Amino acid sequence: MVFFTFSTPPEVAVPICRWGRQTPTPPRRLRGVKQAAGLDFCYNAGAMNLGIDAPDAGDVSAPALCVSHLSFSYDARRRILDDVSLTVPKGRIAAIMGGSGSGKTTLLRNICGQVSGEPGEVEVLGYKVRELGREQLLQFRRNIGMLFQFGGLFTDLTVFENVAFPLREHTNLSESVIRHLVMLKLEAVGLRGSARLLPSELSGGMARRAALARAVAMDPKLILYDEPFAGLDPISLAITARLIRALNSVLRATSVIVTHDVAESFQIVDYVYLMWQGKIVAEGTPKEMRETPDPYVRQFVDARSDGPLPFHQPAPPLSEELGVL
Ligand SMILES: Nc1ncnc2c1ncn2[C@@H]1O[C@H](COP(=O)(O)OP(=O)(O)OP(=O)(O)O)[C@@H](O)[C@H]1O
Ligand SMILES: [Mg+2]
Repeated sequence: MVFFTFSTPPEVAVPICRWGRQTPTPPRRLRGVKQAAGLDFCYNAGAMNLGIDAPDAGDVSAPALCVSHLSFSYDARRRILDDVSLTVPKGRIAAIMGGSGSGKTTLLRNICGQVSGEPGEVEVLGYKVRELGREQLLQFRRNIGMLFQFGGLFTDLTVFENVAFPLREHTNLSESVIRHLVMLKLEAVGLRGSARLLPSELSGGMARRAALARAVAMDPKLILYDEPFAGLDPISLAITARLIRALNSVLRATSVIVTHDVAESFQIVDYVYLMWQGKIVAEGTPKEMRETPDPYVRQFVDARSDGPLPFHQPAPPLSEELGVL
């Protein structure tokens, strides 16, 4: 178990060499809340012996995440992910960026084994995710922390209880130890003074930080963030970004951040993948992404309305739709 405080200095993002292209059941009364929040597996999953659980625990050179030629469709009509390959080395932070509907959340769902099928491989911390059975999948997810697109806090539990929840579910720690651990996590995100509040009594930024504390309650080895900055004011956004970097460093974890926020994420990530319509259309370090003339990157990074990335989702001509010739 790692102890840290909010004052822990974030690790400075250093240039890296090019990366290769290449829940347990909640209490009955919570089940409805969990499903309503779209959490079909974890508020945070995690285990106290993560490093021992993971098949590649001792292998520091193995990438934490390797997705190879992954394709995925929710139904036969439309392919959502199309031959996606990406690698994230241990200890690094990668951003997955791209327009709305390009498949970012779907990619995260494939990474944690929430959905599967079709060709391709997903290897996380040595687990071949697509080959796992139900029990193995539950064990695998104990190594992963996830911050959902809309936070996903249990609405009828206080901030303290939300963060304590995974610790109570996955460990036999005494209440006094759990209290210490929860308070340390809340201190880390600046919310120790709000431990007794309900989620409805928090601002959007505070709720995001509470969800962050819960996501890392069990010191996961891989942390997935889906839009951690959405809807935050500039100060909360900067604090959250700094927290993500600090948590990754202190927990010796690996992080994947799905985000649209170019300015803030480029400050903290090591590498960027740009998605469009289910494909990786560009990749590079933040510096490379700032400097490349690639039209996809330029349009996204410079927030241009004109370029190869259309605003409209694929659809038949409007005249055909309206029956007007
Ligand atoms: N459960 C689902 N069933 C069917 N189609 C889905 C489902 N979830 C998402 N989709 C479709 O998959 C495509 C990609 O959705 P996804 O949520 O992965 O996009 P995204 O890149 O995360 O977008 P955003 O930035 O808006 O969150 C969209 O066209 C969406 O309509
Ligand atoms: Mg999404």
